[in-house]
Amino acid sequence: MRRNLQIAIGISLATLLLSAAFQLVLAGNEYCYPRGNTNEFQLSLKLEFIEDRIIPKTYGDPVPEEGLNCKWKILTDHLDNSVVVLTGFDTEAHLSQQRWPRSVDSAAQQQPMRYKLHSKASDSTCSSPSTSEPKPVELEMLRVLQLTKGSYLTVSFRLNRKSSADILGLQIRLMEPGFCGRSMTNFESNCYTTGSVRRNLTAELAAMSADSGVMRLASFSSSAALQNFVKESQRTRVGSGLSTRIKEPLNLAQRLRIGLFYEHRTKKVFYLNCGAEAGCKMAEFEDANKLNHVVKTTNSSVSCGLLRAVNLTIDGEVLGLVSFTDCSEQLPALISFPDAARNRCGNSNQPVLSWMLAAAQPAAEEDQTGPNPISKISVLVMVLLGAFAATLLAQILTLKLFSIKRWQCQAKPG
Ligand SMILES: *[C@@H]1O[C@H](CO)[C@@H](O)[C@H](O)[C@H]1NC(C)=O
Ligand SMILES: *[C@@H]1O[C@H](CO)[C@@H](O)[C@H](O)[C@H]1NC(C)=O
Ligand SMILES: *[C@@H]1O[C@H](CO)[C@@H](O)[C@H](O)[C@H]1NC(C)=O
Repeated sequence: MRRNLQIAIGISLATLLLSAAFQLVLAGNEYCYPRGNTNEFQLSLKLEFIEDRIIPKTYGDPVPEEGLNCKWKILTDHLDNSVVVLTGFDTEAHLSQQRWPRSVDSAAQQQPMRYKLHSKASDSTCSSPSTSEPKPVELEMLRVLQLTKGSYLTVSFRLNRKSSADILGLQIRLMEPGFCGRSMTNFESNCYTTGSVRRNLTAELAAMSADSGVMRLASFSSSAALQNFVKESQRTRVGSGLSTRIKEPLNLAQRLRIGLFYEHRTKKVFYLNCGAEAGCKMAEFEDANKLNHVVKTTNSSVSCGLLRAVNLTIDGEVLGLVSFTDCSEQLPALISFPDAARNRCGNSNQPVLSWMLAAAQPAAEEDQTGPNPISKISVLVMVLLGAFAATLLAQILTLKLFSIKRWQCQAKPG
């Protein structure tokens, strides 16, 4: 009995230590140091620090009377090209898990964390444009940057003596091709994550194009692709043997906006088809009859697709369900972007907006144009033919008359 207990305690201790080690491996925490001017670090897949966090605190050292300016320069030089995701996080909530002493006095004004991208242009890969001025780190921000070799990020903020609360931290995640990140799904060379802000379609598309244009609404060409994605998104580990990696499943229990659209006039489903390099266009969904979907009636010509997954069985078999509803509904989105930097520039949102505009038009257009263009052409052809025939007839007649005259002339003297 006692031995069993000892073993149990041993196992739980080992698990604790292992999970502590795991946390260290997964996140590189960068603190503010009173000595030194600009701290530099490299984003790297090899160093195991795939997720770096900039923590707006000092590591044990007191903040000097005059305050502290904290600066980082984050390099990606040794990576040819990379995709990096920036998000904000609540430092207090994050650090309270580590039993960090919470400071009470937060009255003093402090400068929030700001970041700036210094981009280096490349011919072969699209690079996110440099930020013209430092941008504040915000809690719900999601920025996806495509960085070319030689590009770097700078981050700065100011700590005051008395206060250390209420500055948001910055999380920097380097995407690993074929894996993305622990809390994201990798599917067909794209990374998938959920946005945290509820928006209608137009506001969502605007927010995505205001970023570097790499992000787009997750879209699927067929119901098989959609179901495979849903299955992949719910896995808790990927790989096998020693290369097994832990994954956090995406939360698909809530409805998420995706890039599928229903056109009421034709009763067809469309998706956003983004090729390797040629940009995006709207295309017809391959097998809408096999898609588990419902269409809610709306007054507009187009309804917008939302994805939700349900558990089919207790052992984790999931099914993706799509509903088409009013595009003005405010919802979080399922967002996708390439897992490695590619030459895939341009905005994916314009094709959606132009298609929606066109879908709203046809009824009005049919009224205006009257008979269709084909009949117009045939009328024109008939008129031309008629004119030709008339000319021909006229010529034959003149010829005939002429020959009759000549014949008469020849006949007279004879
Ligand atoms: C499926 O069940 C698991 C375990 O009960 C739960 O964590 C998960 O959120 C469920 N997924 C969906 C899509 O409802
Ligand atoms: C559709 O239009 C009708 C009348 O114009 C209106 O009463 C109804 O609320 C509208 N429905 C939606 C979903 O907007
Ligand atoms: C979408 O949301 C934005 C911001 O909330 C709002 O200004 C706009 O009118 C909305 N558009 C539609 C079509 O609902």
